[in-house]
Amino acid sequence: MNRLDIKTYPDPCLRIKTQPVESFDSDLKDTLRAMRDMMYLHQGIGLAATQVGLGLSVFVMDCGEGPVSFINPEIVETSGRKTKMGEGCLSIPGITVTVSRPEKVKVRAQDETGSFFIKSYDSLAAKVVQHENDHLTGRLIIDHLDPVRHFLARRRLLSIKNKRSEDGCEVVCGVGKRDS
Ligand code: CO
Repeated sequence: MNRLDIKTYPDPCLRIKTQPVESFDSDLKDTLRAMRDMMYLHQGIGLAATQVGLGLSVFVMDCGEGPVSFINPEIVETSGRKTKMGEGCLSIPGITVTVSRPEKVKVRAQDETGSFFIKSYDSLAAKVVQHENDHLTGRLIIDHLDPVRHFLARRRLLSIKNKRSEDGCEVVCGVGKRDS
């Protein structure tokens, strides 16, 4: 498959509202494999399809217990207190945003074969599931900020982006080529 690149803010791909996956075919498996490779290459713990410019309802995650792919995920329950955590995003390099989210989450999704599963997560993994699930509706960490902080963060991100372009290193982290 074609090489995947990580899209960075303000790339419009990051605002895509994804569509459900209907074909659980080899293309999907290739896409998931490439997304996992990309996540590990960038030392991320989660990556959503919109971040590589795909409009599929898919994200991958590995919080230290091995990779899990979530296809057509749906958060069916949240519980516990809302706690704040500083979140980064591979698509928004250069800033960390403190986001308040529930501590526990129950998510229903399909695996690569189309089988449904339900998993419960807490602490870090619960935050990652919610962060990645946000990506599938075009929601980013900066959207959790109040309007003034959002404005300031956007201004800062655009200046970082411009600086990167001037330096001639627009490509984030030198993504490796992957073909199958
Ligand atoms: Co992200």
